[in-house]
Amino acid sequence: MTVNWSADSWKNHTALQMPDYEDKAALDRVTAKLASYPPLVFAGEARALKARLGDVARGEAFLMQGGDCAESFAEFSGDMIRDTFKVMLQMAVTLTFATRKPVVKVGRMAGQFAKPRSAPTETKDGVELPSYRGDIINELDFTPEARRPNPDKMLEAYLHAAATLNLLRAFATGGYADLERVTDWNLDFAKDERYAQTAQRVSQAVAFMKACGVDADTAQEIATTEYYTSHEALLLPYEQALARVDSTTGDTVACSAHMLWIGDRTRQPDGAHVEFCRGVVNPIGVKCGPSMTVEDLKQLMGILNPENEPGRLTLINRFGAGKVGDHLPKLIETVKAEGANVVWCCDPMHGNTVKAESGYKTRPFERILQETREFIDTCQEQDVYPGGVHLEMTGKDVTECTGGMREVTDAGLSSRYHTACDPRLNASQSLEVAFLIAEEMER
Ligand code: PEP
Ligand code: CO
Repeated sequence: MTVNWSADSWKNHTALQMPDYEDKAALDRVTAKLASYPPLVFAGEARALKARLGDVARGEAFLMQGGDCAESFAEFSGDMIRDTFKVMLQMAVTLTFATRKPVVKVGRMAGQFAKPRSAPTETKDGVELPSYRGDIINELDFTPEARRPNPDKMLEAYLHAAATLNLLRAFATGGYADLERVTDWNLDFAKDERYAQTAQRVSQAVAFMKACGVDADTAQEIATTEYYTSHEALLLPYEQALARVDSTTGDTVACSAHMLWIGDRTRQPDGAHVEFCRGVVNPIGVKCGPSMTVEDLKQLMGILNPENEPGRLTLINRFGAGKVGDHLPKLIETVKAEGANVVWCCDPMHGNTVKAESGYKTRPFERILQETREFIDTCQEQDVYPGGVHLEMTGKDVTECTGGMREVTDAGLSSRYHTACDPRLNASQSLEVAFLIAEEMER
């Protein structure tokens, strides 16, 4: 158990990026209700993911984390969940086939509802209102009512998360993820020739193995998959309300998701978000942007992973294309000097956001590929394992990031631009990233 920690000790620290709830009684009512609800995940699952990430830290598996920038209540549907899940399966098959390593699949799903913002308010035509902070906090419409932080939205978010997890679990173990269906996952609008070829070969290998005779355990491995969930641990009253004590060990588990991460804007070593995360046993990610200093990193590793447990800490780099060489080597040196066990993961999205001439926020696909390449090259040069990738992506055929094989142009962004927050890779662009990683890792 963690020293001098309780599920509400974060309240004694500065909490940035938190909404200001006017009605404190309503907030207390909601959090009390959430605290009485069933947990969304259980301790054994969070530990299992930590063990898988331990494999990644040792270079024996690859982490693929992906999903919406912000999940949205309006876009909530079974198709949406299925399509993101399906592309992640395709990416995992591509990577496993190329690298001969298992892929640990972690969705930015079933809880990715709270967003940090660069400014607390937004002004339009002389009217100033609170910024939109994600569907768990307020609404996107630019009206005073919609933008008012409303604690009841936490209950709505919990129910959306529960329904999402329910379907993900059904897909993972109920037959959808069966490797015998590997050729069926090629989405109609994003049929990928390279994927079709890989899928064909996987399919033949599975048929061959079955003909030779596989035992029950292997049959189970082929027919099902493991899929975990994650989100940014931003809205601490929600996280606290869903924290539970594991009766067998006495440990506290964040039961809102298997893995939580701390955002680049809220990772102050003495801040509230780090304080909350240090006391829960789940795997924890930390976003590392250009402002991450060696001193911060040392402190964060000491606070968040004092026992140096492999799989506990994932460092999610997001520097921007062309900047990896300026920042990553010194972080790698620090980790090596401390003898720390970490997973090195690349988020090639958040350092590459630009405003297109059309006015849309976008990310040029070339830059995303370039940062991914720089990350892998730098890790390999420094002799550490490039363990994973963290993507904002969807299985839908959106036009939010420019470029890619099915060229999305600046002028074309408006045709299917649906994100509630940052621009996401579409299904075909996501698969392209998987092929790039497969090529880079094989070299
Ligand atoms: C995010 O992952 O959506 C995010 C806000 O990232 P970062 O904290 O790295 O800016
Ligand atoms: Co984002």
